[in-house]
Amino acid sequence: MIIAIDGPAGSGKSTIAKLIAEDLGLVYLDTGAMYRLVTLKALNDGILGDLEEIKKMLDNLNIDIKENSFYLDDIDVSEEIRKPVVSENVSNIAAIREVREKMVDLQRKFSESKNVILDGRDIGTVVFPNADVKIFLVADAKERANRRYKELVKKGENVKIEEIYENILKRDEIDSTRKESPLKKAKNAIEVDTTSKNIEEVKNEILNICSKYSICV
Ligand code: CDP
Ligand code: CDP
Repeated sequence: MIIAIDGPAGSGKSTIAKLIAEDLGLVYLDTGAMYRLVTLKALNDGILGDLEEIKKMLDNLNIDIKENSFYLDDIDVSEEIRKPVVSENVSNIAAIREVREKMVDLQRKFSESKNVILDGRDIGTVVFPNADVKIFLVADAKERANRRYKELVKKGENVKIEEIYENILKRDEIDSTRKESPLKKAKNAIEVDTTSKNIEEVKNEILNICSKYSICV
């Protein structure tokens, strides 16, 4: 069984997907984190703007995901991949065709013979166009920036809300206008606006949708 959750940054995808995974006993895969791992590797190797080097790097890429922790070259970088410097560069890396091909391949392999909920930008359109349930989460950009700001401040990051808002708008733009697998609602996805809903409300709304597809707790 595959549940696809797509939508822009800060719409609540990963929070909700984790909760649904617990309730329905599914495995959760955060595909955005995979693009963040590739971005961190490119940053560490100092090859961010070098397309040929990035393509070469993909051949020896050593990334792993264990129990919602993310590893690059066997080191747990779960915190590092959420840093603003990664957020600022990830959309450009995710727009590269070869990067996407490699990630989509890994996502499909990861999901083989499992019941999985995946969140990202292209799950319902490209990775699993035949997913059992497709949800498209949206929320007002100011609200999304506010959520991300609160989250980073809690982690002790010194960030400005204006910069986060700009980053969210820029990523929305790059992600939805890129040539390869742009962010868009799949034709048969159900859109849920989370702007003025709390986490519990969104979770219940999605569980309700799942039950209509005979996917129940
Ligand atoms: O958590 P947040 O919404 O900030 O972003 P994310 O889900 O961690 O994704 C980071 C970036 O990876 C996005 O802005 C996209 O550029 C890219 N991404 C993608 O292209 N396709 C996916 N399936 C998931 C993420
Ligand atoms: O994965 P995505 O970037 O779509 O969003 P997220 O990381 O799940 O959510 C971003 C922040 O918004 C988290 O701190 C959530 O706790 C919060 N959130 C919220 O306040 N209300 C919601 N309905 C959903 C998420």
